[in-house]
Amino acid sequence: MAQRPTVTRSIPALRRIVQRFRDAGERIALVPTMGALHAGHLTLVREARRRARRVVVSIFVNPTQFAPHEDFASYPRDFTADLAALGAAKADLIWAPTAEVMYPSGFATRIEPQGAAKAGLEDKFRPHFFGGVATVVTKLFTQVAPDFAMFGQKDYQQLCVVTQMAKDLDLPLKIIGVPTVREKDGLALSSRNAYLSPAERAVAPTLHRVLEASAGRIKRGEPIEMVLEEGAAEIAHVGFALDYLEARHAVSLVPIASPKDGPIRLLVAAKIGKTRLIDNLGV
Ligand code: PAJ
Repeated sequence: MAQRPTVTRSIPALRRIVQRFRDAGERIALVPTMGALHAGHLTLVREARRRARRVVVSIFVNPTQFAPHEDFASYPRDFTADLAALGAAKADLIWAPTAEVMYPSGFATRIEPQGAAKAGLEDKFRPHFFGGVATVVTKLFTQVAPDFAMFGQKDYQQLCVVTQMAKDLDLPLKIIGVPTVREKDGLALSSRNAYLSPAERAVAPTLHRVLEASAGRIKRGEPIEMVLEEGAAEIAHVGFALDYLEARHAVSLVPIASPKDGPIRLLVAAKIGKTRLIDNLGV
């Protein structure tokens, strides 16, 4: 039987446990999540265990990274299932603060990242998002004080923003990017895949297929602009409303016109029905 990990909901309790880890000379890896855990999150936990004796997983559906019209209220939540999965994955500690603990009344500070956070990708469609992410992630880092923090490449712009922020603020931890975990047909695992109807689910892997095909063509020397135009048409053809399909510098996320300015990362976001999906791939 997998052991149930300890759950803490207050900062003093969290600090006591983290201090015990530190006193024993144990390294700590943090996996920040919003719960509704799937195999992608659990891969982050596994990678965390490879790097540190102690793994802390935070579960907090962060209200400040959702715009009023977005899915904060309906975002999938299943704490019981998450606990069971994290027990099986051998996480040591679940940090599950309430909104009141994270943002007590009078809370008045916000981190506003620039650079990759203003690349004109997710930020263009979700202007609240990276300020909310940066603020909560900084708080999670100071609360848990980990040696490592694991982030998925699935949310590639988020990974770039958090990496730059940790560097800019001299945060004493290492950010680790973990490759995207996919279904057999290529669809990137996401809590939001649960929103897809069977017909939408059937065409959803088009995003990954187009990324793969486009990366191959760009590698073979075809012009980036033409490859992306054709990719965009294919994505629209199966019923997606495309937000963007772009080639960007893999670190700074600035636009790229030629492979010699790379490394290149292809990034896509598109809506099918009510569900917005994102994906990305290195060239
Ligand atoms: P959430 O969407 O729950 O994702 C938590 C972590 O899991 C993120 O680092 C994300 O990139 C990673 N992840 C999600 N799907 C993945 C997949 N298919 N393969 C690999 N990793 C995957 O991202 C957030 O939460 C929040 O913005 C957060 C960082 C917790 C701040 O609130």
